[in-house]
Amino acid sequence: MKLIFIGPPGAGKGTHAAVISEKLGLPIIGTGNILRESVKAGTELGQKAKGYMDAGQLVPDDLILAMVDERLKAPDCANGYILDGFPRTLPQAEALTAMGITPDYVLDLEVDDSIIVGRLTGRRVCENCGATYHVVNLPPKQEGVCDVCGGKLTVRKDDTEATVRERLSVYHQQTEPIKAYFENMGLVHSFDGSGKVNEVTQALLGLLEGTR
Ligand code: AP5
Repeated sequence: MKLIFIGPPGAGKGTHAAVISEKLGLPIIGTGNILRESVKAGTELGQKAKGYMDAGQLVPDDLILAMVDERLKAPDCANGYILDGFPRTLPQAEALTAMGITPDYVLDLEVDDSIIVGRLTGRRVCENCGATYHVVNLPPKQEGVCDVCGGKLTVRKDDTEATVRERLSVYHQQTEPIKAYFENMGLVHSFDGSGKVNEVTQALLGLLEGTR
């Protein structure tokens, strides 16, 4: 099964993708995560991407498409995957189609901008395994420590209020149009992403497991 998550920054794409990945045995191809790993490792891609990411801007399509094309060739993608954060522009969506890839479901998480800033400024991410928490909505058992691996929880560099507002503006201008692209293909399923985390996850699984 091939799934695409779309939705604004902080909509919960990564949070729900992690549960669905576990339940359905699908790898997550998170372009933001791959880019952050590249920045950390100091690769050529990471060096090119860093400035855009820190400013809340999108990384140029050619860099992203080369990266995704490479990742999708890996053996773990043979039976499907979850795309989280890709495609993010109309040219990226068209490139996916040109690669001969049609997703089974495009999962659209709808969350109002007014909720997003609080979500992202309160987000904490494990620097070791990448597990995501929220200081109020999804706190770890012990403050600052990952429940999964005991790693240290950190704040993402692009989760400051000013950068979140820039990311939201970029989302509305450059990413929202891909929803209409996939709607024309009859693939979009929209969910209210502002409910409780487990309720939203259950609604998504309801669709994917055919009980909805
Ligand atoms: P990326 O890492 O993809 O960031 P994003 O799209 O901005 O998404 P987020 O990871 O911020 O949000 P999310 O929806 O996954 O939310 P989460 O589940 O963590 O991209 C980062 C950057 O990389 C981009 O700005 C760009 O520069 C670059 N990039 C990446 N892909 C690219 C591409 N294809 N093209 C060009 N550039 C690209 O949840 C957020 C918080 O809310 C958490 O704390 C969580 O616990 C909490 N939460 C989640 N759901 C709920 C709920 N229902 N109720 C209460 N709290 C909740």
